[in-house]
Amino acid sequence: MAILALDSLGAARPAVSAAVDPQAIPAARVGGRGTGTVRFENVSKTYRSAAGEVRALDDVSLAVPSGAIFGIIGRSGAGKSSLLRTVNRLEEPTSGRVLVDGEPIAALGTDGLVALRRRIGMIFQHFNLLSAKTIRQNVALPLTVAGVGKAEIARRVEEALRLVGLEDKAGTYPSRLSGGQKQRVGIARALVSDPEILLCDEATSALDPETTLSILNLLRDINRRLGLTIILITHEMSVIREICTDVVVLEAGRVAEAGPVWRVFGAPEHPATRALLAPLTRDVPNELAERLSPHPRPGARAVLRITYSGRTPPDLSALVAATGGPVQLLQAGVERIQGHAVGRLLIAAGPEAEARLRAIGETVEGIGYVAADD
Ligand SMILES: Nc1ncnc2c1ncn2[C@@H]1O[C@H](COP(=O)(O)OP(=O)(O)OP(=O)(O)O)[C@@H](O)[C@H]1O
Ligand SMILES: [Mg+2]
Repeated sequence: MAILALDSLGAARPAVSAAVDPQAIPAARVGGRGTGTVRFENVSKTYRSAAGEVRALDDVSLAVPSGAIFGIIGRSGAGKSSLLRTVNRLEEPTSGRVLVDGEPIAALGTDGLVALRRRIGMIFQHFNLLSAKTIRQNVALPLTVAGVGKAEIARRVEEALRLVGLEDKAGTYPSRLSGGQKQRVGIARALVSDPEILLCDEATSALDPETTLSILNLLRDINRRLGLTIILITHEMSVIREICTDVVVLEAGRVAEAGPVWRVFGAPEHPATRALLAPLTRDVPNELAERLSPHPRPGARAVLRITYSGRTPPDLSALVAATGGPVQLLQAGVERIQGHAVGRLLIAAGPEAEARLRAIGETVEGIGYVAADD
């Protein structure tokens, strides 16, 4: 698949003359800090071992815009972690290339790689904290390793702990913290080097729903306040819906689908996306499905599904006026993702309603008939 449409780098880049190939210009550096864009170009990854070969990534091309919260979803084994780990070169692509801020990272030498990893924070499902060190020491670790001065470390650790709301836990040990607090420490440690990109591999999978929500809010807050680009992997579709701006669906190492969340979630095209979204999608209730007849009988009402995939919210009075008769709302599940209405309504209405609703531009599908007195 070619570079996908979600490439909105154009908006984030300085204007360039049309005669210049924008690909040839590295993204602007602000005060030595990059803008946090990532581009995957035809990235493939094959693991070779005694057991044989596994093609984990197959010709993946994608662009992550500056300041995005970019979700990677897919079944287990689809290649999500492999893709994420190419960004800081924990994995090297077998072919293709990865560019951070317009710069191909494969060319970096040892010093360049150390500098790159300082610009890219990472958090994991199992927080990877050192149990014998205090929270303060855990958060300080990347700076200690980098040889930063003591006073500077103290200042930045305090700032990072304040950002994640753990300033009162600095002297505590990890064993005394809850899962959510441990992940906050992980986030503080990732942020202490002032990165431009944060990679999250199932960072909320070990947390209960309420704690997950608080960590998501923290990530969103960090994204907005620090202008950080976040790339995150999750198995929880609600996490993507809640905070991501863009999403890519991987299936067997290939890009199945990608784009703004409202579009991919509002009108999923690939079977892999539909399967992943099934838990979020309200289906026809069983008791109604049992009563549905495929054929109209005298006096029967048509059961219609009206789908919203990014338009303005349902205009109920227009719907009622268009159906030209009694309308019953059987089920409703419309929400807003990034300001777009996404979801569907199930209604029962007269036999002409389907054609009339279509005539006013609704996306409508007849799914059967129920007897009028049902
Ligand atoms: N170091 C490795 N050596 C050999 N095969 C590997 C290695 N790492 C991953 N794989 C294989 O590559 C494929 C993709 O793995 P990857 O970890 O990227 O998937 P994933 O989408 O992150 O899965 P999950 O949701 O289970 O974490 C899988 O078939 C996996 O078994
Ligand atoms: Mg994984």
